[in-house]
Amino acid sequence: MAMIAKQCPDISVHVVDLNAARIQQWNSDSLPVYEPGLDEVVRESRGRNLRFSTEVDQAIRDADIIFIAVNTPTKISGIGAGRAANLEFIEKCARQIARCSSGHKIVVEKSTLPVRTAEAVKRILQSAGNGATFDVLSNPEFLAEGTAIEDLLLPDRILIGGESDAAVEVLASVYGRWVPRNRILTTNLWSSELSKLAANAFLAQRVSSINAISALCEVTGADVDEVSRAIGMDSRIGSKFLKSSVGFGGSCFQKDLLNLVYLCEHFGLREVATYWEQVVAMNDYQKRRFSERIVRTMFNTVSDKRIAIWGFAFKKDTNDTRESAAIRVCRDLLQERARLVIYDPRVSESQIRYELQAIWADQFGELSEQHKKLIDTNVVVAKDCYEASKDVHAIAVLTEWDEFTTLDFQKILSTMHRPAFVFDGRNILDRAALTKLGFEVHGIGKPTPCAR
Ligand code: UGA
Repeated sequence: MAMIAKQCPDISVHVVDLNAARIQQWNSDSLPVYEPGLDEVVRESRGRNLRFSTEVDQAIRDADIIFIAVNTPTKISGIGAGRAANLEFIEKCARQIARCSSGHKIVVEKSTLPVRTAEAVKRILQSAGNGATFDVLSNPEFLAEGTAIEDLLLPDRILIGGESDAAVEVLASVYGRWVPRNRILTTNLWSSELSKLAANAFLAQRVSSINAISALCEVTGADVDEVSRAIGMDSRIGSKFLKSSVGFGGSCFQKDLLNLVYLCEHFGLREVATYWEQVVAMNDYQKRRFSERIVRTMFNTVSDKRIAIWGFAFKKDTNDTRESAAIRVCRDLLQERARLVIYDPRVSESQIRYELQAIWADQFGELSEQHKKLIDTNVVVAKDCYEASKDVHAIAVLTEWDEFTTLDFQKILSTMHRPAFVFDGRNILDRAALTKLGFEVHGIGKPTPCAR
């Protein structure tokens, strides 16, 4: 919305939310999300044609186009628990829009939704019975966190699904202010909804595929980065999204895959469901494999050993921790009674503790006093990599922050126990240089180093 406001100064954009604290942050100098370039974009339009408030009813009444951008988390109970999307917030929005509208409105699904949700939204809107009329469009978002501003400025494509050509054209003309027309695709509603799920499933599948190969590299002596480069140069395969890692995270991949699996099952396509489910299973395996490798390498015990965790966000250039592989790895190590010293340049201590408590509560149904105490005492949050790495037996790199590659590793080594283990879950460190200094570096999909 901030980008639309920036590119279309004549369009008035009003962002509303029930969460007053959130809105207050959007109106402050400290935005609730860290995203390179976002501050400037918001600052440029806020107070001009971009407004943040909690006046939901009024904003609905005033608007010609309403974007629904609420979250659709995976259901945790009831039918489809653990897979299906929770559409409670979408439905509440649709009902509120129906109640407050008059005249004609275009309602745009921006949230990622299961196929055929637009149908339900349409029925709810039409049931208002107050004379208002609606067109429903699907306009999924393809930006990635960390590169959101460039993705929005120069998107590969804008996708608009809808039945009314006139409504589709209204929305296309908004994006058309800065996006070349040949990048604005129009489809039917269901294709648009499905394309979003399919795009994320394909991207996640590439990561799981290269991660599957990484396991094979580790036992055969092949190097996953070399394999990735070799296959990526085939123009039919392409080089993007072939970076092996400790596992994909983020709020979308797993959720959307599970959503797709649920849809397939719903329509009786068991084989198709099983196929996509395997992408999630491979990701779980990759995360588990990483923590098991740490324990195995460190003489089968990390109990009472200090381990530095570099990075907690699910990728660099974001403070988002949702589904971050770091959460799972830290939990596994804590269960082995390791002592963790965590540092992330953008994630707050309270967020780190929140995630660790949440995953525990998830695993055992509740967070017992004993587990809470374990997290309280065995997790320390440091202010930088140097502080995090003091007096530790190992370093685990879990997010690919640029600053991790330009440190004084001699200084870091001098404060560590020997052997000085490094487990590079992102393959960002210079293995040769670090090995020469005296570290024992274990990378993802890299040959196991000989013990010194
Ligand atoms: C993803 C998609 O890339 C966006 O197109 C989509 O709009 C978005 O989900 C969404 O549905 O909202 P995002 O989750 O922000 O974007 O970030 P990605 O860059 O896709 O990374 C996802 C995860 O995969 C990260 O943990 C990243 O580290 C990991 N990854 C990515 C790899 O491990 N290897 C790669 O080669 C690429």
